[in-house]
Amino acid sequence: MFIFRKKERPFVLLEKFFIIFDFYLASHYMNPIEQQIRSLREELHRLNHEYYVLSQPSISDYDFDQKLKLLAQLEAEHPEYYDANSPSLRVGSDLTKNFVQVKHRYPMLSLSNTYSESEVLEFYNRVEKLLGSKDFEIVCELKFDGTSISLTYENGLLKQAVTRGDGVQGDDVTANVRTIRSIPLVLRGEGIPALFEIRGEILMPWHVFEKLNEERAAQEEQLFANPRNAASGTLKLQDPKVVSSRGLDSYLYYMMGENLPCGEHYANLEKARTWGFKVSDAMKVCRSLDDVFAYLNYWDVERKNLPVATDGVVLKVNSLEQQEELGYTSKFPRWAIAYKFQAEKEWTKLKEVTYQVGRTGAITPVANLEPVQLSGSVVKRASLYNADAIEALDLHIGDTVGVEKGGEIIPKITEVKLEARPAGAEKVFFIQTCPECGTTLVRDVEHLYKAGFVKDIADLYELKWQEVMRLERWGEKSARNLTDSIEKSKTVAYERVIYALGIRYVGETVAAKLAQAFPNIELLEAASAEALTRVDEIGERIAQSVVSFFANEENRRLVERLKLAGLQFAAVEADTSLQTNALGGKSFIISGVFSLHSRDEYKVMIEQNGGKNVSSISAKTDFVLAGENMGPAKLEKAAKLGIPIINEVRFLEMLEGNAL
Ligand code: IVH
Repeated sequence: MFIFRKKERPFVLLEKFFIIFDFYLASHYMNPIEQQIRSLREELHRLNHEYYVLSQPSISDYDFDQKLKLLAQLEAEHPEYYDANSPSLRVGSDLTKNFVQVKHRYPMLSLSNTYSESEVLEFYNRVEKLLGSKDFEIVCELKFDGTSISLTYENGLLKQAVTRGDGVQGDDVTANVRTIRSIPLVLRGEGIPALFEIRGEILMPWHVFEKLNEERAAQEEQLFANPRNAASGTLKLQDPKVVSSRGLDSYLYYMMGENLPCGEHYANLEKARTWGFKVSDAMKVCRSLDDVFAYLNYWDVERKNLPVATDGVVLKVNSLEQQEELGYTSKFPRWAIAYKFQAEKEWTKLKEVTYQVGRTGAITPVANLEPVQLSGSVVKRASLYNADAIEALDLHIGDTVGVEKGGEIIPKITEVKLEARPAGAEKVFFIQTCPECGTTLVRDVEHLYKAGFVKDIADLYELKWQEVMRLERWGEKSARNLTDSIEKSKTVAYERVIYALGIRYVGETVAAKLAQAFPNIELLEAASAEALTRVDEIGERIAQSVVSFFANEENRRLVERLKLAGLQFAAVEADTSLQTNALGGKSFIISGVFSLHSRDEYKVMIEQNGGKNVSSISAKTDFVLAGENMGPAKLEKAAKLGIPIINEVRFLEMLEGNAL
């Protein structure tokens, strides 16, 4: 036994030595590449924080990008040093597919809202009473107008990011949130709990929002109504790469967990700031009602100078113990309240209501107003949403209307001053015919969808008016109008049909280019990305979008059915022998319904005879070619500008003597 132990001893010692040596190697010896990768990551985390959280960059963007590129390159060459928290992965990597639903550890409640200072006073008194006249502090914070998020950190690393959802469970959007530069992936500093949650708001700053909408307008994509919608829409995108490019920002405003560093909300957030989180500088501890009101009044004005949208102030009891004592109602915490700022409102006059026709044929009424200054800009137009909104306001031309901006970029009419209505004012009725082509408008195709009659556009072509009229709210006339309009759509030119397919990035102009380069749908469907980019003005992005549209089986099936239904899926051959210069560069606008030729045929005739088609009336327009049911606004504008209005017979006379 003794011998055995004696014999074993040097071996054990040696083994121990190797274990220690191994450990020493792992912790102190690092291959130079790994070292370089680690120090670049460390440095980029710090630079990100300086730039996105502190807004105090210490190096140029160019130098930053060089470092990031170098890191990405080293990581690509050495995948063995992969780290999910590397700053290089902020650009978004994997493609997420539909989000996983995650139950919140603590439900995500909202706050009870108030617009009145007297309710703030009531809140303050209630807190005082419930706390039995113990001293308390109220932390005032800005109420950021974005989309809320709950972040979980484990051992200093971002583990999960979940949206509010229904408050009980939300979407796991971790991959997207990882791309937001002001959200730290790795925390640094003292006293970080092993596990905690921090909640806050994801925001799209105003300047990013405006730029995004400009780009969308150029691509004829639907605009975001406000930065809140833009932020939440972006967060729900399936591709983190796109999210990464959208310039989202964040503010964190509430920490939760078992072992928080401090017993006060304010101190916890200040601590979180030192770990790398973006916490608002506008937080203030108030010790009296006067302090609270001074804060409300100050920020009601000052918030307009902030780079992000805010819509109020949140008041929270500072002590976590007192928060617990106050507890919750069934819906809200009793220790907090949101005071919402009144949206600015101005009064002006309604001049006229015009109608915009969207790609899908949806009609949006727009109020044209006497210009008025509101929240720093001149407002001339306001959205009226739909026929119901007009009816609800009981709008009359010449009415004095209250316009508000609220969180929306497009102002809305919220009120009408009835006592100021001019005698004999004309009531506004939603138009009955399309202002562009004069066809009778049909409301509630959605109704047919719900009734199970149509599931997609192709189903529309199988509708029988005799069946539709049997549905509730439909009569013979409206049912016939519907099927007539559907029938007429079969004469719509090929390029318009391409446009109407709703392929992303394919607006009117691009559709026309595609139709010219690929004169029938079979050619377009078969076109490769390379072939598409060879077309003038078609870049990589549009080409990819077209290819992926036709790669989708469902889209191909839909096109096939529309083809069978008789839609125009080939360009009408341009007969060059018909070309003349009879119209010698004159510009035409076409409006209304025609009986001798279709609108599209007239458009072709104009082009073939040396004229130009324009889409909106201006002083430069030479003629209005008017059919039946031309929109009254266009008619009035043409008359005002003194532009000759001609009918189709007169137009054909103009071409007389030529082959047409
Ligand atoms: S505290 C239980 N603080 O407003 C308390 N919320 O209606 C949780 N919000 O869903 C919220 N700024 O999205 C808090 N400084 C702030 C906030 C804030 C914006 C949002 C948040 C919440 C909603 C409350």
